[in-house]
Amino acid sequence: MLWTASLCLLWALSILGAPVNKQRQKVLLISFDGFRWDYDRDVDTPNLDKMAKDGVKALYVTPPYLTITSPTHFTLLTGRYIENHGVIHNMWFNTTTTEKKPYYQTQFVNEWWDNGTLPIWITAQRQGLKAGSLHFPGTASSYQGQVAMVREVEPLLYNYKNETAWRENTDKVMGWFRDQDLDFVTLYFGEPDGTGHRYGPDSPERREMVKQVDRTVGYIRQSAKQHGLTNSLNIIITADHGMTSVYRNGQVEEITLSKIPGFSFRDLSFHLVDFGPSGMLLPKPGKLEKVYNALKGSHPHLHVYKKEEMPERLHFAKNDRILPIILWSDPGYVINGYFPVQFHKGEHGFDNQEMDMKPFFRAVGPAFQKNLKVGPFETVNIYPLMCHILGIQPEVNDGHLNATKHMLVTSTTTQGEFISD
Ligand SMILES: *[C@@H]1O[C@H](CO)[C@@H](O)[C@H](O)[C@H]1NC(C)=O
Ligand SMILES: *[C@@H]1O[C@H](CO)[C@@H](O)[C@H](O)[C@H]1NC(C)=O
Ligand SMILES: *[C@@H]1O[C@H](CO)[C@@H](O)[C@H](O)[C@H]1NC(C)=O
Ligand SMILES: *[C@@H]1O[C@H](CO)[C@@H](O)[C@H](O)[C@H]1NC(C)=O
Ligand SMILES: [Zn+2]
Repeated sequence: MLWTASLCLLWALSILGAPVNKQRQKVLLISFDGFRWDYDRDVDTPNLDKMAKDGVKALYVTPPYLTITSPTHFTLLTGRYIENHGVIHNMWFNTTTTEKKPYYQTQFVNEWWDNGTLPIWITAQRQGLKAGSLHFPGTASSYQGQVAMVREVEPLLYNYKNETAWRENTDKVMGWFRDQDLDFVTLYFGEPDGTGHRYGPDSPERREMVKQVDRTVGYIRQSAKQHGLTNSLNIIITADHGMTSVYRNGQVEEITLSKIPGFSFRDLSFHLVDFGPSGMLLPKPGKLEKVYNALKGSHPHLHVYKKEEMPERLHFAKNDRILPIILWSDPGYVINGYFPVQFHKGEHGFDNQEMDMKPFFRAVGPAFQKNLKVGPFETVNIYPLMCHILGIQPEVNDGHLNATKHMLVTSTTTQGEFISD
């Protein structure tokens, strides 16, 4: 009886194409920080072009607002808008003590990252898969006590531009897939963001860095091949946000809050400004209207919103961590507090509708169609796409598979059952 049942099951499995002797598909998610959608337009990028020919290229993708590194990366990992996952800023802060932690130190604050939404590493592991991460934002934190089973956290004062290290990291990750049979890995490169900030997105230095990224894309695909992963590994390459030029004194009338009539820092109990084009303010009790009225309309390129008035499309209001007044500036401008202290030639953090904030997107592998160009989509949709390819049940998220499934070779298979031949 038992024997008959097993035979029947085997037969059923072979008919239905279930995972008998079949390799589960793997996914490598790569982020090149600050790689704007159109960075391949003024640089020769043979490897990115080859990847588009062998796979899928989106015109661009739309990141969530606020367009800064940790929040947008956590959206890639969770498929949730920033107000829903809770990693609302690169910096942890406490409005009572006015303490702030910079980007790197915030990577290690578990309570900041683990705010009710599980990243895909943990979900994959809970469903029997093996996950890893190298330097991806969010890697250092634990989630409900769990971490990616293989992980490498970025060292402090890391040299983001070292191409030799990029190749070593690539080979390391390919080794994880081959030797430890990992199913899902995230890999992070801190460029061309650094170069874009320092020299501006229109500089020859940025174009040189894009060539380095392109060489690395070629190296990544070659390394996957050498590790025997061509038939099982899907490679998705994208970024967290774009970059736009900042104009300085003389070129524009700068935004400096302390110079605005009727506004005073004494009316605030906490503020986050001098952080590119975005700011958040916590007025002292009874001072909200005064602060708001002083700032609203004070500069033609400064946008001032009460939290509850934030445009719905930005999905940046419904979270206790977001402060009562939110500020952002138009491209070209940054928001200064007491006096200008920001000297970057390039910035991000602007409205996600601005074309300069849009990242690129490429994908190649057995799950993806070849030589396919697709229209833009929001980066919240990358999470359900990855879950689908991995054959795992996603957590609650803000994306939809229908936004990306036309990229896949088998778009008719149902979620959780996608196993390749
Ligand atoms: C902020 O600091 C206060 C005072 O130490 C503490 O009571 C509170 O729990 C802290 N809040 C957060 C979110 O860390
Ligand atoms: C998220 O963080 C806030 C404080 O910043 C806290 O009040 C809340 O309980 C946290 N939620 C979860 C689910 O961790
Ligand atoms: C670049 O990385 C390689 C390999 O990790 C290392 O040997 C070399 O010293 C690094 N060079 C610089 C300039 O950081
Ligand atoms: C995908 O499906 C959702 C829910 O059914 C719908 O709201 C959304 O408009 C669809 N998106 C696309 C791109 O078809
Ligand atoms: Zn970034």
